[in-house]
Amino acid sequence: MAIEKTFLMIKPDGVKRQVIGDIVNRFERRGFELKGAKLMVASREVAEAHYAEHADKPFFGELVDFITSGPVFAMVWEGESAISLARTMMGATKPADSQPGTIRGDFATTISENIIHGSDSAESAEREIGLWFGGELA
Ligand code: TYD
Ligand code: MG
Repeated sequence: MAIEKTFLMIKPDGVKRQVIGDIVNRFERRGFELKGAKLMVASREVAEAHYAEHADKPFFGELVDFITSGPVFAMVWEGESAISLARTMMGATKPADSQPGTIRGDFATTISENIIHGSDSAESAEREIGLWFGGELA
């Protein structure tokens, strides 16, 4: 167990659906602390770097198109086991597996437009916080 920081991002579909408040509220109620947040339109360069691990996948182009299609709400949250607990609160990637009560299980029906991103490991969290917030949170 450890205090961790994680990078979470409400994707353009979540911003359009006006569920920023609902999602922020879930993490506040769970007991996490918001360390930074900004509403921004991601450049293609940042979106491609963010999803670099998927560069060879057939869905990569559409994923980058989607992530840059409108504002995202980028956040850093801190708390006990924040990385894995936030992933649990998000719900599974596959819609058939995302349980009601999770963010994706409550708001999404497709694998591509699924409301929220969350870091999947300590290494990803460090890399993603650096990519999206740079020195802003140092
Ligand atoms: P992935 O890292 O597998 O999922 P997660 O967001 O749960 O970590 O995939 C990254 C994003 O790519 C995912 O949130 C939505 C998109 N995606 C697709 O559009 N189609 C797919 O088949 C997969 C696996 C992902
Ligand atoms: Mg992932």
